Amino acid sequence: IGPDSVEVLGYSYPRDDFTNVTPKILEKVGRNLHNQSHHPLWLIKERIKAHFYSSYMGRWGNPLFSVHDNLSPVVTVEQNFDRSEDPINSVSIIHSSPVAECLPLVVSRATMLRAHTSAHQSDLVRSGLDAFLLAGDVYRRDEIDASHYPVFHQMEGVRLFSNHELFSQVKDGHQLSLFESGGRRTPQKQETHTLEAVKLVEFNLKQTLTRLITNLFGDLEVRWVDCYFPFTHPSFEMEVRFHGDWLEVLGCGVMEQELLNSAGAGNKLGWAFGLGLERLAMVLYSIPDIRLFWSQDERFLKQFRVQDIHQPICFQPLSKYPPLHNDISFWLPDDGFTENDFYELVRSVGGDLVEKVSLVDDFTHPKTGRRSHCYRIVYRHMERTLTQQEVAVVHGQIQQDAESELGVQGRY
Ligand code: PHE
Repeated sequence: IGPDSVEVLGYSYPRDDFTNVTPKILEKVGRNLHNQSHHPLWLIKERIKAHFYSSYMGRWGNPLFSVHDNLSPVVTVEQNFDRSEDPINSVSIIHSSPVAECLPLVVSRATMLRAHTSAHQSDLVRSGLDAFLLAGDVYRRDEIDASHYPVFHQMEGVRLFSNHELFSQVKDGHQLSLFESGGRRTPQKQETHTLEAVKLVEFNLKQTLTRLITNLFGDLEVRWVDCYFPFTHPSFEMEVRFHGDWLEVLGCGVMEQELLNSAGAGNKLGWAFGLGLERLAMVLYSIPDIRLFWSQDERFLKQFRVQDIHQPICFQPLSKYPPLHNDISFWLPDDGFTENDFYELVRSVGGDLVEKVSLVDDFTHPKTGRRSHCYRIVYRHMERTLTQQEVAVVHGQIQQDAESELGVQGRY
């Protein structure tokens, strides 16, 4: 890999001002944990597939939903954000604001690692599919703790309905229509949709997802929370009651009609959902830390080699080795510093030794107005006890790189 280019999955991209992918992230591209037989993420994917295959038949007894798990995670900015404006412009928008609450990992100018599997909705609809599931690895710059990691996996589902498919079960349904003109966008619906069509699609969506979650977890309490996603309206999050807490498990909604129109399916309405496979696997198999999914340790992997994908598994944690804490404080540069830059730097230097990074102090000097941050970094190896000496080497490197790459000034 030359310094002027970034190599991803055998292709070379010119490195430019927008490039922010790190070697540590690039190592993960192509691992495809969701396609590795008997990996816990593969198990969840297979269970979801099995549920959809057995519950939804096409007209000739074939599975209604097709399944796609091999699409490249390298996408254009337009695919990821479904915006067709000048790519360079939209990259700068992305750089300055967390679109859809995620900061993207950019390979080169208008090319990025997908931040969600929704990046492929439009292409798959355009290819003529009416019902599909799509699994893949997704990439985000994010906070660091036991349930966040810059690479994780999602499963996307999409189903489209023609007028006939939606209303044929309804008495005198042929008198109803999917679309109306001159309507307004309200919290319940988009401007071109009729309320009766939206309500049927929404009902089908919620019922489909409730059945899926019940199939995976057994009976449990479910609730729907209104929210915003750029590709759907109305949009919802599903939360399930788990050990007394409400846990968000997926996002979903009625697809934006503009997206369907430009993908050549303007005569249909659709729903879409996206769920995090790690989140489900952590709950279903009692996996305590998201880093474990990347483990190549036999003691982890062998626990998931079951004969039948439906066999219950309760993960027995590898013994927990003790953590080591080290703090780092520095003065921030006058502008251009974000916490995520620092998290990413820690991740790229410290790799999987870092369990958690938290901002423990945010101080503004009363006279000079200069601001400083203090972060606590928790180091822990999953498979052995770390020594203070080896952590000091990594920690020292983080201090050094933070100064040279982020323009901060250490206060040690
Ligand atoms: N893409 C959304 C996310 O990653 C999830 C989602 C998928 C929401 C499909 C609505 C429809 O957060």
